[in-house]
Amino acid sequence: MKLRIVKDNKPSLRKKSSDVKMPVSSNDMELLYAMNEYLIKSQDEEYATKHHIRAGVGLAAPQVGVNKRMFVVYINDGNSIFNWILINPKIIETSARMVALKDGEGCLSVDQDHQGLVHRHYKIKMSAFNLLSMKEEIIVAEGYHAIVLQHEYDHLDGILYYDRIDPFNPYSPRPNETIL
Ligand code: NI
Repeated sequence: MKLRIVKDNKPSLRKKSSDVKMPVSSNDMELLYAMNEYLIKSQDEEYATKHHIRAGVGLAAPQVGVNKRMFVVYINDGNSIFNWILINPKIIETSARMVALKDGEGCLSVDQDHQGLVHRHYKIKMSAFNLLSMKEEIIVAEGYHAIVLQHEYDHLDGILYYDRIDPFNPYSPRPNETIL
């Protein structure tokens, strides 16, 4: 399946996505596995250079032109791999403590660089159907993992990372914010 990344000049990227009908259809499953494959390949430097694609750690269905509430995360930190294929995720708890990456965030749908701190919750609890286990799960994530999950979740509501940068004080941390 050939995936085309929707860029942030397309109005569909700003729409709120609809719930995925359960049980998950074979079409939705196929798309999610193709998105997962896309991320894995994007992290292979040789492949990415050859195919002119950027490396990504997350991809949400609206970014491939499907406005449904599902996304994929694939993080390989050298020691372990964190792979989630999530359907109808809900954020059920967030910490008061905040977090931001010192170098800001990036997105496969955003070609221009938007500098500044993207304020996120340091710790979140998320419920979702995980396609990899075929079960409803509760995921507790913090730090970088929580950032990636919130970034992808935002795509389902039509929110892009630069919406969360304060245009007047792009580098001012929030009162209880950890900078990673
Ligand atoms: Ni993104």
